[in-house]
Amino acid sequence: MKHACVGLFCVVATVHAVGAAQSSQFIDDEVRVPAYTLPDPLVMADGRPVTDAEMWESERRPEIVDLFETHVYGRSPEAPTRVDAEVVSVDRAALGGRAVMTQVTLLLSADRAGPRMHLLLVVPAESERPVPAFLGLNFAGNHAVHPDLGIALSESWMRDGGDGVVENRSTEASRGSRASRWPIETILDRGYGLATIYYGDIDPDFDDGFQNGVHPLSYGASQSSPGPDEWGSIAAWAWGLSRALDYLETDPDLDARHVALIGHSRLGKAALWAGALDERFALVISNNSGCGGAALSRRRFGETVERINTSFPHWFCDNFTRYDRNEDALPVDQHMLVALIAPRPVYIASAAEDLWADPRGEFLAGLHAGPVYRLLGTDGLGVDAMPAVDEPVMHTIGYHIRSGGHDVTRYDWQQYLDFADRHGLRQSR
Ligand code: GCU
Repeated sequence: MKHACVGLFCVVATVHAVGAAQSSQFIDDEVRVPAYTLPDPLVMADGRPVTDAEMWESERRPEIVDLFETHVYGRSPEAPTRVDAEVVSVDRAALGGRAVMTQVTLLLSADRAGPRMHLLLVVPAESERPVPAFLGLNFAGNHAVHPDLGIALSESWMRDGGDGVVENRSTEASRGSRASRWPIETILDRGYGLATIYYGDIDPDFDDGFQNGVHPLSYGASQSSPGPDEWGSIAAWAWGLSRALDYLETDPDLDARHVALIGHSRLGKAALWAGALDERFALVISNNSGCGGAALSRRRFGETVERINTSFPHWFCDNFTRYDRNEDALPVDQHMLVALIAPRPVYIASAAEDLWADPRGEFLAGLHAGPVYRLLGTDGLGVDAMPAVDEPVMHTIGYHIRSGGHDVTRYDWQQYLDFADRHGLRQSR
């Protein structure tokens, strides 16, 4: 048995003869988590302590962004000077009269010939304008979030193996296949809008050496192949979320200063990175985002850096593979990703049966982002110990571990709506 270390950035771990006792390749038991030390978000790379909010903003925050860009997600291009939007349809009496439903195509390349993403925007018909909204990427097309026939069937490439997809294309059977994850009527009843985009419109989710989707938009004329810090798909999806917000800023029905970003799983990783980079997002929600999202990499619990880089080589930049089985060498860990969102509210949600995403590691990332939240005058998580299953905590950082598995449920949404209300997204217009 090895002893716990002390101090805020030393994390307690008890190790029982790792190796002989290992029953599986992946750690799924707390006693097998190795001891580790997290980098201190409030100490500069050159060792200087971060003494005040001004120093955080002007020196440490940019330094951490640069470290994540170089070593984890890759470097995203600047925002384009303009994103053209074509309004495809507006239905002022959608969903039985309770919603205004707008479908917009955003043209992501200056020559209008490149990738385009299709945004579905639903806002309450009766609500006072402008309305706050949730913005989230979806896994299976806008038509999969609700069975309404007015929603255009996506024509984009889709992964086979469910959702009514045949030969990588959606069919009518795809409609509403993911509706359980998007309780649109409840969101509307609570006074919020919802904006969503199929993530594959931004970058199709397969490894093609960073060639398809929006990737080539950032290649310089002299660049023949992607560099080691070339943006991966997570960064591309995050960039697309910012372009969606560019558009929402132009919509008079929408209160773009009160947009909550939400993402599940790989799209939770993208939501956190988008929220870290783009401070226009008022609030960020990570649902079961796991490795490369809210979970601390150094714990190696569930999915590891090596495993994620092997299964999904296109998600991160190539430099991230340097940390396969070498997590302690990372100059960052995921608590610093959460800290980049400070002082804005962030909600981290885990599920008790979703050990692959390391619920405890997700909680600890929130906990150890706390010093930055406090430096900026807020209260962080407000608790030191992980709460019991189905007992949410809601301070500037919110957290819950829900019973059940890897999914987005009504219970999760209930907490997110309460959290958004609590942080004034609806009231402070
Ligand atoms: C896999 C992957 C996770 C990811 C998840 C998802 O399980 O290992 O990292 O979060 O897919 O996006 O559904």
